Amino acid sequence: MILHTEYQERREQLMAKIGSGTAIFKSAPVAVMHNDVEYAFRQDSDFFYLTGFNEPEAVAVLAPHHEEHRFILFVQPKEREKEVWTGYRTGVEAAKEKFGADEAYPIAELDEKLPQYLEKADRIYYHLGRDRKFNDTILDHWQRLMRTYSKRGTGPFAIESTNPILHAMRQVKSAAELEMMRKAVAISVEAHNHARDFAQPGRYEYEVQAEIEHIFRLRGALGPAYPSIVASGANSCVLHYIENDRQMQDNDLLLIDAGCAYGYYNADITRTFPVGNKFTPEQKILYELVLRAQQDAIAQIQPGNPYNQFHDTAVRVLVEGLMDLGLLAGDIEEIIKEEKYKPFYMHRTGHWLGLDVHDAGAYKHGENWQILQPGHVVTVEPGLYIGMDTEPVEGQPAIDECWRGIGIRIEDDVLVTAEGHEVMTEAVPKSVEDMER
Ligand code: GLY
Ligand code: MN
Ligand code: MN
Repeated sequence: MILHTEYQERREQLMAKIGSGTAIFKSAPVAVMHNDVEYAFRQDSDFFYLTGFNEPEAVAVLAPHHEEHRFILFVQPKEREKEVWTGYRTGVEAAKEKFGADEAYPIAELDEKLPQYLEKADRIYYHLGRDRKFNDTILDHWQRLMRTYSKRGTGPFAIESTNPILHAMRQVKSAAELEMMRKAVAISVEAHNHARDFAQPGRYEYEVQAEIEHIFRLRGALGPAYPSIVASGANSCVLHYIENDRQMQDNDLLLIDAGCAYGYYNADITRTFPVGNKFTPEQKILYELVLRAQQDAIAQIQPGNPYNQFHDTAVRVLVEGLMDLGLLAGDIEEIIKEEKYKPFYMHRTGHWLGLDVHDAGAYKHGENWQILQPGHVVTVEPGLYIGMDTEPVEGQPAIDECWRGIGIRIEDDVLVTAEGHEVMTEAVPKSVEDMER
């Protein structure tokens, strides 16, 4: 569980960085599924990270230089007639008591109350890349303050994104965050291990999906962290296959990419295994290659290593293997540099993981890759995909039919530690012996 004191510490840490600026964060909107039916509300991750407040139509303001109020919340007021329809609201009073705001107002008063927190700020910290309509609100305030600048002699002369500061914070997970992630991982591990026992020829992909998502909810997860991919046979070559409606056959591989969200923290796991008892010889050869690429890539997850190193390692292992199999030919350095392997491996080997599945945080600073440090969590997920219609790049060998229809990905969630790394998801087996039965 993440305590209120931790949210407060995060706000303090951010405020120390913005000095005499004012930072503004908007909650997520209510999203419509169709007509007037709404999706389950999902809070904006930046907003949640700083407030723990889980309602729409809210704005958080951090004004470290303000004399009285450093943390201000604008929220939906308590309104019984509305709450009867759309659920409980915290309301203005409790926003102060429960969420530690120095001051709180009804959201309808935003235009009236916001200027007092901007007038003395030297800049506005606000991310313009998310909500066009709210951008207009902020830009209107800014223009007005600029027009009246000479009267006061103070006011924000620039708008800057909060992302570099905030996302660098989000990138390093606290002990409490890791506890949430471990919970998401434990539930997802259980679901994967059950799915492997449950899958068999004759069953449909959606039956496996149902078993997985049943466990997610049964164990208290919010649900899937992303649409579950349950892809058998040649469907495994479609990276984001989510129809999940095919009947599985003997000799198919089944690729399952599924993870749950627990209290907004996500797990992201992929395993690929035979639906029947054994790999075919070609499936086994490619599986062992992807597994080797993944294990060698995981070995590169060490504090001090640049972020790209594990991807580069995976690519090299895969390319060497594909050359040995006659699926790629020529000079290895040229194949890698010119990305001639891309018909078989078209995505990167991982991403940051946390409050978002593809989590916040820079991968590069200018020309330099981010250096891994303790508290970072990444996925390591190499794959090979040889679809029925995959074409080699010009000048590369024709693809023998025996390889077609095979898609394999193996994905683990890996924490960078002071000593090296910890594979958080290692309780889902992945050796050839464990995948066969
Ligand atoms: N399941 C989404 C991903 O692996 O990035
Ligand atoms: Mn995944
Ligand atoms: Mn992933």
